[in-house]
Amino acid sequence: MTDIPPTLGLTREQVERVLADAGRAPSLHNSQPWLFRLRPDAIELHADPRRRLPVVDPDDREQRIACGAALFTLRLALQGLGIRPIVTVLPDRSQPRLIATVRHGGAKAATPEQLRLLRAVAKRRTNRHPFAETAVTRPELYALRRAALDEGAWLHVVEGPEDRAEVQRLAVAAHRVQTDDPEFVAELRTWTGTAAGRRDGVPAAAGGPQPAPQDRWVLRDFSAGDAPDRVPGKEFEDDPLIAVLTSHLSGERADVQAGQALQRVLLAATAEGLAASFLSQIVEVPGPRDRLRRLIGATRPPQVVLRIGRGWPVLATPRLPVAELIMTEPSWAP
Ligand SMILES: Cc1cc2nc3c(=O)[nH]c(=O)nc-3n(C[C@H](O)[C@H](O)[C@H](O)COP(=O)(O)O)c2cc1C
Repeated sequence: MTDIPPTLGLTREQVERVLADAGRAPSLHNSQPWLFRLRPDAIELHADPRRRLPVVDPDDREQRIACGAALFTLRLALQGLGIRPIVTVLPDRSQPRLIATVRHGGAKAATPEQLRLLRAVAKRRTNRHPFAETAVTRPELYALRRAALDEGAWLHVVEGPEDRAEVQRLAVAAHRVQTDDPEFVAELRTWTGTAAGRRDGVPAAAGGPQPAPQDRWVLRDFSAGDAPDRVPGKEFEDDPLIAVLTSHLSGERADVQAGQALQRVLLAATAEGLAASFLSQIVEVPGPRDRLRRLIGATRPPQVVLRIGRGWPVLATPRLPVAELIMTEPSWAP
Protein backbone atom coordinates (compact mmCIF):
# COMPACT_ATOMS: atom_id res chain seq x y z
CA MET A 1 0.00 0.00 0.00
CA THR A 2 1.27 3.45 -0.94
CA ASP A 3 2.38 5.62 1.90
CA ILE A 4 -0.30 8.19 2.64
CA PRO A 5 1.46 11.48 3.35
CA PRO A 6 -0.01 13.51 6.22
CA THR A 7 -2.41 16.26 5.21
CA LEU A 8 -4.69 18.80 6.90
CA GLY A 9 -4.13 17.09 10.28
CA LEU A 10 -6.31 14.13 9.23
CA THR A 11 -5.79 10.52 10.31
CA ARG A 12 -4.84 7.97 7.68
CA GLU A 13 -8.38 6.53 7.74
CA GLN A 14 -9.86 9.99 7.28
CA VAL A 15 -7.63 10.69 4.27
CA GLU A 16 -8.61 7.35 2.74
CA ARG A 17 -12.27 8.10 3.32
CA VAL A 18 -12.26 11.59 1.78
CA LEU A 19 -10.28 10.43 -1.26
CA ALA A 20 -12.54 7.39 -1.73
CA ASP A 21 -15.58 9.69 -1.59
CA ALA A 22 -14.04 12.12 -4.07
CA GLY A 23 -13.19 9.20 -6.35
CA ARG A 24 -16.87 8.21 -6.49
CA ALA A 25 -17.60 11.28 -8.63
CA PRO A 26 -18.93 10.69 -12.16
CA SER A 27 -16.56 11.01 -15.13
CA LEU A 28 -16.92 10.57 -18.87
CA HIS A 29 -16.51 6.83 -19.64
CA ASN A 30 -15.63 6.37 -15.96
CA SER A 31 -12.12 7.55 -16.85
CA GLN A 32 -11.59 8.84 -13.27
CA PRO A 33 -9.18 11.51 -14.48
CA TRP A 34 -8.16 12.87 -11.06
CA LEU A 35 -5.09 12.65 -8.88
CA PHE A 36 -4.52 14.03 -5.40
CA ARG A 37 -1.25 15.43 -4.12
CA LEU A 38 -1.18 15.49 -0.34
CA ARG A 39 0.78 18.29 1.27
CA PRO A 40 0.83 18.96 5.00
CA ASP A 41 -1.26 22.12 4.58
CA ALA A 42 -3.26 21.34 1.43
CA ILE A 43 -4.80 18.71 -0.81
CA GLU A 44 -4.10 19.43 -4.46
CA LEU A 45 -6.47 18.04 -7.09
CA HIS A 46 -4.79 17.46 -10.46
CA ALA A 47 -6.19 16.33 -13.82
CA ASP A 48 -4.45 13.10 -14.84
CA PRO A 49 -3.04 13.47 -18.39
CA ARG A 50 -2.90 9.67 -18.76
CA ARG A 51 -6.70 9.61 -18.51
CA ARG A 52 -7.50 12.12 -21.23
CA LEU A 53 -10.03 11.25 -23.96
CA PRO A 54 -8.42 13.11 -26.85
CA VAL A 55 -11.02 12.30 -29.52
CA VAL A 56 -14.30 12.98 -27.74
CA ASP A 57 -12.87 15.63 -25.40
CA PRO A 58 -9.96 17.30 -27.25
CA ASP A 59 -9.95 20.42 -25.06
CA ASP A 60 -10.25 18.48 -21.78
CA ARG A 61 -13.51 20.28 -21.00
CA GLU A 62 -15.27 17.16 -19.75
CA GLN A 63 -12.13 16.12 -17.91
CA ARG A 64 -12.28 19.40 -15.97
CA ILE A 65 -16.01 18.85 -15.36
CA ALA A 66 -15.24 15.43 -13.86
CA CYS A 67 -12.47 16.95 -11.72
CA GLY A 68 -14.96 19.64 -10.61
CA ALA A 69 -17.37 16.88 -9.55
CA ALA A 70 -14.57 15.20 -7.56
CA LEU A 71 -13.71 18.60 -6.03
CA PHE A 72 -17.29 19.15 -4.85
CA THR A 73 -17.30 15.68 -3.29
CA LEU A 74 -13.94 16.31 -1.61
CA ARG A 75 -15.34 19.53 -0.10
CA LEU A 76 -18.38 17.64 1.13
CA ALA A 77 -16.30 14.83 2.66
CA LEU A 78 -14.18 17.38 4.54
CA GLN A 79 -17.32 19.18 5.73
CA GLY A 80 -18.54 15.80 6.97
CA LEU A 81 -15.42 15.66 9.15
CA GLY A 82 -16.21 19.09 10.61
CA ILE A 83 -13.66 20.94 8.47
CA ARG A 84 -14.43 24.12 6.54
CA PRO A 85 -12.57 23.71 3.24
CA ILE A 86 -10.97 26.73 1.59
CA VAL A 87 -10.78 26.11 -2.13
CA THR A 88 -8.72 27.89 -4.77
CA VAL A 89 -9.65 26.84 -8.29
CA LEU A 90 -6.90 26.82 -10.95
CA PRO A 91 -4.46 28.55 -8.61
CA ASP A 92 -1.42 28.52 -10.89
CA ARG A 93 -1.44 29.56 -14.55
CA SER A 94 1.84 27.73 -15.11
CA GLN A 95 0.21 24.45 -13.98
CA PRO A 96 -3.04 24.11 -15.96
CA ARG A 97 -3.55 20.56 -14.71
CA LEU A 98 -3.65 21.72 -11.09
CA ILE A 99 -7.44 22.02 -10.85
CA ALA A 100 -7.71 23.17 -7.24
CA THR A 101 -6.02 23.49 -3.90
CA VAL A 102 -8.05 22.73 -0.79
CA ARG A 103 -6.91 24.01 2.62
CA HIS A 104 -8.15 23.74 6.20
CA GLY A 105 -10.33 26.75 6.98
CA GLY A 106 -11.02 25.91 10.63
CA ALA A 107 -13.52 23.70 12.45
CA LYS A 108 -17.17 23.95 11.47
CA ALA A 109 -19.93 21.40 12.02
CA ALA A 110 -21.53 20.10 8.85
CA THR A 111 -25.02 21.39 8.08
CA PRO A 112 -27.92 18.91 7.76
CA GLU A 113 -27.97 19.66 4.01
CA GLN A 114 -24.26 18.82 3.66
CA LEU A 115 -24.76 15.56 5.57
CA ARG A 116 -27.74 14.69 3.37
CA LEU A 117 -25.68 15.22 0.21
CA LEU A 118 -22.73 13.31 1.69
CA ARG A 119 -24.97 10.31 2.38
CA ALA A 120 -25.98 10.39 -1.30
CA VAL A 121 -22.36 10.08 -2.54
CA ALA A 122 -22.18 6.28 -2.34
CA LYS A 123 -25.77 5.85 -3.57
CA ARG A 124 -25.49 8.01 -6.70
CA ARG A 125 -25.29 6.14 -10.00
CA THR A 126 -25.66 7.02 -13.65
CA ASN A 127 -28.86 5.22 -14.62
CA ARG A 128 -29.15 4.62 -18.38
CA HIS A 129 -32.23 2.44 -18.13
CA PRO A 130 -35.88 3.43 -18.65
CA PHE A 131 -37.50 5.50 -15.93
CA ALA A 132 -41.05 5.34 -14.57
CA GLU A 133 -43.65 7.59 -16.20
CA THR A 134 -44.20 9.55 -12.95
CA ALA A 135 -43.04 13.10 -13.56
CA VAL A 136 -40.50 14.99 -11.48
CA THR A 137 -42.50 17.25 -9.14
CA ARG A 138 -42.12 21.02 -8.78
CA PRO A 139 -40.51 20.83 -5.30
CA GLU A 140 -38.01 18.26 -6.61
CA LEU A 141 -37.21 20.46 -9.59
CA TYR A 142 -36.80 23.42 -7.26
CA ALA A 143 -34.27 21.41 -5.20
CA LEU A 144 -32.27 20.59 -8.35
CA ARG A 145 -32.28 24.20 -9.57
CA ARG A 146 -31.26 25.38 -6.12
CA ALA A 147 -28.36 22.90 -6.12
CA ALA A 148 -27.08 24.32 -9.42
CA LEU A 149 -27.52 27.93 -8.29
CA ASP A 150 -25.65 27.28 -5.05
CA GLU A 151 -22.59 26.35 -7.14
CA GLY A 152 -22.81 29.28 -9.55
CA ALA A 153 -24.60 27.44 -12.34
CA TRP A 154 -28.03 27.37 -13.91
CA LEU A 155 -30.18 24.34 -14.66
CA HIS A 156 -32.41 25.01 -17.68
CA VAL A 157 -35.34 22.70 -18.26
CA VAL A 158 -36.25 22.01 -21.88
CA GLU A 159 -40.01 22.44 -21.94
CA GLY A 160 -42.65 22.10 -24.62
CA PRO A 161 -42.94 19.41 -27.28
CA GLU A 162 -41.22 21.44 -30.01
CA ASP A 163 -38.13 22.23 -27.99
CA ARG A 164 -37.92 18.65 -26.74
CA ALA A 165 -38.20 17.33 -30.29
CA GLU A 166 -35.44 19.73 -31.31
CA VAL A 167 -33.20 18.35 -28.53
CA GLN A 168 -33.85 14.87 -29.86
CA ARG A 169 -32.93 16.00 -33.37
CA LEU A 170 -29.72 17.60 -32.10
CA ALA A 171 -28.84 14.40 -30.26
CA VAL A 172 -29.40 12.33 -33.40
CA ALA A 173 -27.28 14.70 -35.50
CA ALA A 174 -24.46 14.72 -32.93
CA HIS A 175 -24.64 10.96 -32.51
CA ARG A 176 -24.27 10.54 -36.26
CA VAL A 177 -21.23 12.85 -36.43
CA GLN A 178 -19.57 10.89 -33.64
CA THR A 179 -20.33 7.38 -34.86
CA ASP A 180 -19.20 8.28 -38.41
CA ASP A 181 -15.74 8.97 -36.97
CA PRO A 182 -13.67 5.76 -36.71
CA GLU A 183 -11.36 7.37 -34.13
CA PHE A 184 -14.34 8.21 -31.92
CA VAL A 185 -15.65 4.66 -32.19
CA ALA A 186 -12.20 3.21 -31.40
CA GLU A 187 -11.81 5.42 -28.32
CA LEU A 188 -15.32 4.57 -27.14
CA ARG A 189 -14.60 0.85 -27.49
CA THR A 190 -11.55 1.06 -25.26
CA TRP A 191 -13.60 2.61 -22.45
CA THR A 192 -17.06 1.04 -22.63
CA GLY A 193 -18.36 -2.49 -22.48
CA THR A 194 -15.27 -3.24 -20.40
CA ALA A 195 -14.55 -6.64 -18.90
CA ALA A 196 -15.29 -7.59 -15.32
CA GLY A 197 -12.27 -6.96 -13.12
CA ARG A 198 -11.24 -3.67 -14.71
CA ARG A 199 -11.34 -0.78 -12.23
CA ASP A 200 -12.15 1.97 -14.74
CA GLY A 201 -14.31 2.29 -17.87
CA VAL A 202 -18.02 1.53 -18.18
CA PRO A 203 -18.77 -2.17 -17.76
CA ALA A 204 -21.13 -3.80 -20.25
CA ALA A 205 -23.65 -4.29 -17.43
CA ALA A 206 -23.94 -0.50 -16.98
CA GLY A 207 -24.74 0.32 -20.57
CA GLY A 208 -22.05 -0.77 -23.02
CA PRO A 209 -21.17 0.96 -26.25
CA GLN A 210 -23.41 3.46 -28.00
CA PRO A 211 -26.20 3.66 -28.57
CA ALA A 212 -26.24 3.37 -24.79
CA PRO A 213 -29.71 2.55 -23.50
CA GLN A 214 -30.63 6.14 -22.75
CA ASP A 215 -29.71 7.16 -26.28
CA ARG A 216 -32.68 5.13 -27.46
CA TRP A 217 -34.86 7.76 -25.85
CA VAL A 218 -33.49 10.29 -28.30
CA LEU A 219 -33.19 7.97 -31.24
CA ARG A 220 -36.46 6.11 -31.10
CA ASP A 221 -38.94 8.77 -32.20
CA PHE A 222 -37.49 9.46 -35.60
CA SER A 223 -38.73 8.28 -38.91
CA ALA A 224 -36.62 5.42 -40.25
CA GLY A 225 -35.17 7.63 -42.99
CA ASP A 226 -33.95 10.16 -40.49
CA ALA A 227 -32.03 8.06 -37.99
CA PRO A 228 -30.03 5.09 -39.17
CA ASP A 229 -29.45 3.83 -35.63
CA ARG A 230 -33.10 4.10 -34.72
CA VAL A 231 -34.15 1.57 -32.14
CA PRO A 232 -37.86 0.94 -32.41
CA GLY A 233 -40.27 0.32 -29.59
CA LYS A 234 -41.62 2.22 -26.65
CA GLU A 235 -39.35 1.05 -23.90
CA PHE A 236 -38.52 4.49 -22.53
CA GLU A 237 -40.58 6.95 -20.54
CA ASP A 238 -42.45 9.52 -22.63
CA ASP A 239 -41.63 12.57 -20.65
CA PRO A 240 -38.28 12.57 -18.88
CA LEU A 241 -37.07 15.86 -17.49
CA ILE A 242 -34.38 17.12 -19.88
CA ALA A 243 -32.16 19.59 -18.08
CA VAL A 244 -29.19 21.57 -19.36
CA LEU A 245 -26.49 22.86 -17.04
CA THR A 246 -24.70 26.11 -17.86
CA SER A 247 -22.14 27.90 -15.71
CA HIS A 248 -21.90 31.60 -14.92
CA LEU A 249 -18.18 31.84 -15.60
CA SER A 250 -16.41 31.24 -18.89
CA GLY A 251 -13.23 29.42 -19.85
CA GLU A 252 -11.53 26.66 -17.92
CA ARG A 253 -12.81 27.93 -14.58
CA ALA A 254 -16.34 27.54 -15.92
CA ASP A 255 -15.72 23.86 -16.57
CA VAL A 256 -14.59 23.25 -12.98
CA GLN A 257 -17.54 25.29 -11.71
CA ALA A 258 -19.93 23.29 -13.91
CA GLY A 259 -18.45 20.06 -12.56
CA GLN A 260 -19.04 21.12 -8.96
CA ALA A 261 -22.59 22.15 -9.81
CA LEU A 262 -23.17 18.92 -11.72
CA GLN A 263 -22.23 16.81 -8.72
CA ARG A 264 -24.37 18.93 -6.40
CA VAL A 265 -27.35 18.51 -8.75
CA LEU A 266 -26.77 14.75 -9.05
CA LEU A 267 -26.43 14.31 -5.29
CA ALA A 268 -29.54 16.42 -4.66
CA ALA A 269 -31.37 14.26 -7.21
CA THR A 270 -30.17 11.09 -5.47
CA ALA A 271 -31.26 12.45 -2.09
CA GLU A 272 -34.70 13.17 -3.60
CA GLY A 273 -34.92 9.58 -4.89
CA LEU A 274 -34.38 10.63 -8.52
CA ALA A 275 -32.11 9.07 -11.14
CA ALA A 276 -30.13 10.69 -13.97
CA SER A 277 -28.25 9.87 -17.13
CA PHE A 278 -26.28 12.01 -19.59
CA LEU A 279 -26.87 13.00 -23.22
CA SER A 280 -23.42 14.40 -23.80
CA GLN A 281 -23.21 13.97 -27.57
CA ILE A 282 -25.13 17.25 -27.96
CA VAL A 283 -22.49 19.24 -26.08
CA GLU A 284 -19.52 17.31 -27.51
CA VAL A 285 -20.18 18.28 -31.15
CA PRO A 286 -19.80 22.04 -31.80
CA GLY A 287 -22.79 22.65 -34.13
CA PRO A 288 -25.45 20.97 -31.97
CA ARG A 289 -23.91 22.54 -28.86
CA ASP A 290 -24.36 26.02 -30.27
CA ARG A 291 -27.89 25.27 -31.46
CA LEU A 292 -28.78 24.02 -27.97
CA ARG A 293 -27.36 27.22 -26.45
CA ARG A 294 -29.68 29.26 -28.66
CA LEU A 295 -32.64 26.99 -27.97
CA ILE A 296 -32.38 27.51 -24.20
CA GLY A 297 -31.52 31.20 -24.60
CA ALA A 298 -28.26 30.90 -22.65
CA THR A 299 -25.34 33.30 -22.94
CA ARG A 300 -22.81 30.63 -22.00
CA PRO A 301 -22.41 27.36 -23.90
CA PRO A 302 -24.22 24.41 -22.35
CA GLN A 303 -21.95 22.13 -20.33
CA VAL A 304 -23.99 19.03 -19.50
CA VAL A 305 -27.34 17.61 -20.70
CA LEU A 306 -29.16 15.37 -18.24
CA ARG A 307 -32.22 13.14 -18.42
CA ILE A 308 -33.79 12.96 -14.96
CA GLY A 309 -36.63 10.80 -13.66
CA ARG A 310 -37.52 7.93 -11.38
CA GLY A 311 -35.41 4.87 -11.99
CA TRP A 312 -34.98 1.41 -10.56
CA PRO A 313 -31.76 0.36 -8.80
CA VAL A 314 -28.68 -0.19 -10.97
CA LEU A 315 -25.25 -1.59 -10.16
CA ALA A 316 -22.36 0.63 -9.12
CA THR A 317 -19.49 1.06 -11.59
CA PRO A 318 -15.98 0.16 -10.39
CA ARG A 319 -13.44 2.61 -9.01
CA LEU A 320 -9.65 2.72 -8.85
CA PRO A 321 -8.19 1.99 -5.41
CA VAL A 322 -7.36 5.09 -3.38
CA ALA A 323 -3.63 4.27 -3.51
CA GLU A 324 -3.73 4.84 -7.28
CA LEU A 325 -5.28 8.28 -6.84
CA ILE A 326 -2.38 9.62 -4.83
CA MET A 327 0.15 11.55 -6.83
CA THR A 328 3.68 10.95 -5.72
CA GLU A 329 6.20 12.64 -7.93
CA PRO A 330 4.84 13.29 -11.40
CA SER A 331 7.31 11.34 -13.55
CA TRP A 332 4.88 11.81 -16.46
CA ALA A 333 4.62 15.57 -15.96
CA PRO A 334 4.99 17.69 -19.09
C1 LIG B 1 -18.95 15.16 -18.12
C2 LIG B 1 -19.60 13.80 -18.17
C3 LIG B 1 -20.21 13.37 -19.34
C4 LIG B 1 -20.83 12.11 -19.39
N1 LIG B 1 -21.45 11.73 -20.56
C5 LIG B 1 -22.07 10.53 -20.63
C6 LIG B 1 -22.78 10.14 -21.81
O1 LIG B 1 -22.85 10.88 -22.79
N2 LIG B 1 -23.39 8.93 -21.83
C7 LIG B 1 -23.37 8.10 -20.74
O2 LIG B 1 -23.97 7.04 -20.82
N3 LIG B 1 -22.74 8.46 -19.59
C8 LIG B 1 -22.10 9.64 -19.51
N4 LIG B 1 -21.48 10.03 -18.34
C9 LIG B 1 -21.58 9.17 -17.15
C10 LIG B 1 -20.34 8.33 -16.92
O3 LIG B 1 -20.23 7.31 -17.87
C11 LIG B 1 -20.40 7.79 -15.47
O4 LIG B 1 -20.30 8.84 -14.57
C12 LIG B 1 -19.29 6.77 -15.18
O5 LIG B 1 -19.46 5.63 -15.97
C13 LIG B 1 -19.29 6.37 -13.70
O6 LIG B 1 -20.51 5.77 -13.34
P1 LIG B 1 -21.43 6.36 -12.19
O7 LIG B 1 -21.85 7.76 -12.61
O8 LIG B 1 -22.60 5.42 -12.11
O9 LIG B 1 -20.64 6.40 -10.92
C14 LIG B 1 -20.84 11.28 -18.25
C15 LIG B 1 -20.22 11.72 -17.07
C16 LIG B 1 -19.62 12.97 -17.02
C17 LIG B 1 -18.99 13.46 -15.74
